[in-house]
Amino acid sequence: MNNTDHHKFALTTPLYYVNGVPHIGSAYTTMVADAAARFQRLQGKSVLFITGTDEHGQKIQRTAVEQNLEPQVFCDRNVESFKSLWSQLNIKYDRFSRTTAPNHQAIVNEFFERVWQQGDIYLDRQQGWYCVSCEEFKEERELIDDRHCAIHTSKQAEWRDEENYFFRLSNYQQYLEELYESQPDFIQPATRRNEVINFVKQGLKDFSISRVNLDWGFPVPVDKKHTIYVWFDALLGYVTALLEPNQEPTLDNALSQWWPINLHLIGKDILRFHAVYWPAMLASAGLPSPNKVFGHGFLTKDGLKMGKTLGNTVDPFELVDKYGADAVRYYFLKEIELGKDGDFNETRFIEVLNNDLANVLGNSLNRTLGMLTKYCQSKVPQLNSDDYDSDHPLFSIGMDLGDRVALAYENLQFSRACEEILTLVRSCNKYIDDSAPWSLFKQQKQSEVEHILYAVLESVRLSAYLLSPVIPDISSKIYQQLGFDWDFNSSDRVQTKEDFLIHSQWGKLSINKKLDKASPVFSKLELPSKD
Ligand code: MSP
Repeated sequence: MNNTDHHKFALTTPLYYVNGVPHIGSAYTTMVADAAARFQRLQGKSVLFITGTDEHGQKIQRTAVEQNLEPQVFCDRNVESFKSLWSQLNIKYDRFSRTTAPNHQAIVNEFFERVWQQGDIYLDRQQGWYCVSCEEFKEERELIDDRHCAIHTSKQAEWRDEENYFFRLSNYQQYLEELYESQPDFIQPATRRNEVINFVKQGLKDFSISRVNLDWGFPVPVDKKHTIYVWFDALLGYVTALLEPNQEPTLDNALSQWWPINLHLIGKDILRFHAVYWPAMLASAGLPSPNKVFGHGFLTKDGLKMGKTLGNTVDPFELVDKYGADAVRYYFLKEIELGKDGDFNETRFIEVLNNDLANVLGNSLNRTLGMLTKYCQSKVPQLNSDDYDSDHPLFSIGMDLGDRVALAYENLQFSRACEEILTLVRSCNKYIDDSAPWSLFKQQKQSEVEHILYAVLESVRLSAYLLSPVIPDISSKIYQQLGFDWDFNSSDRVQTKEDFLIHSQWGKLSINKKLDKASPVFSKLELPSKD
């Protein structure tokens, strides 16, 4: 295990159920993870970004049967739609972990064996209400009217009474309490941490890790009549993903380079599995916990819970087809504070994008490049940060913007990072209007004109660089118009810490370079018609 060095960063999305095509909730977590991964790469770190699919269990099996398909064929089909959405959203993952992959069973078996040897698995009787959509037993008090699941409100929980293998979670109460105490960042945000601490305080019950009457999954190594519970199998998908392609699937191999994983990004509904069950399972197998589990909020549409019953789901494919990847990424990352619930509203969506990306960012670049052509023969003036006072309207914001934004990204505060950057770009338009370079030009004050144009172009460059984890296409277009042969999507260009230190500072625009004519980086969107 050697992922303790600060040059490496491993992160995961949940492994999504493949009982259907991806929904906006899965797209949301994946966009967040991609922006986090891109930020780490931008700083020159070696990154392993894992996503994938959770393919076993009753929920998948039932849906496959309903569609008259073999479960594997059914999974293979849906996996393609996940991969296609990730490509359309410009998600640059490094590993796609499927729980039906051949090497995964070996990892699950070896892990089971370790926990078995530890004496943490025993056979007992399980009685209770099971929500197949959550793949989870529920306490009666957690269910709503007529034993419906509070999350999947159209689904009724089913009564189960069967022999199952259990994991001795109760052995790990003290271990977990100490973990939350000694690693205060382990669960984030703080509200979620408190929820988990309170839950654990009430006392932990062992949970069942096998099912009978279900064959879609791996057999329990010590008793083939049982199938391993889908969550026990799925969490280990994170470990399998750490294997190099074609590497022999052993736990030691899998854990040799990237363990412990730095960050699990998940939604709040699956927090208990990641922040309670998972570290306890790992401890039982003699393994340390991941560094951080971040539970984000839920998305609503026009203020209402999204769901098939209300018929108000937001289709991520439709959204990205209509508006493009950067627009969708920007809205969800900038408009929703990660950790809080957030809303999707199409009118708001269009307003935010038109305002921030077209009017503020695009326009600052466009008008300044236009003036550069007219007043400076398209050449970037020969200036740098030493030519600006610390109270200059743009330099004063830009000089430590890189540090503030890096801190925000590091803490997964994407909305804050975007807001900080926008403060600079918004000031550009005001600064141009206030300083009126066109009249200075008429008065033949060439050096003042150059001083103004350089300040704006440099502020736009810095903003584009810092926004690149969120809107990589637009940032690339801006960088290219500013004379850099640079594509933020390319994996060919090695990004180094030195690059980051240079480009995240104000005053690094290449001087004396002749720039091409401006072309719009983001075209304004039309408001949807009312009918
Ligand atoms: N298969 C499990 C995860 C196993 S991880 C080892 C699973 N899959 S899921 O496909 O049902 O959930 C995927 C993610 O989507 C979860 O993080 C969940 O929180 C998220 N969302 C589902 N609906 C959502 C919203 N309406 N809004 C935001 N995210 C939501 O759980």
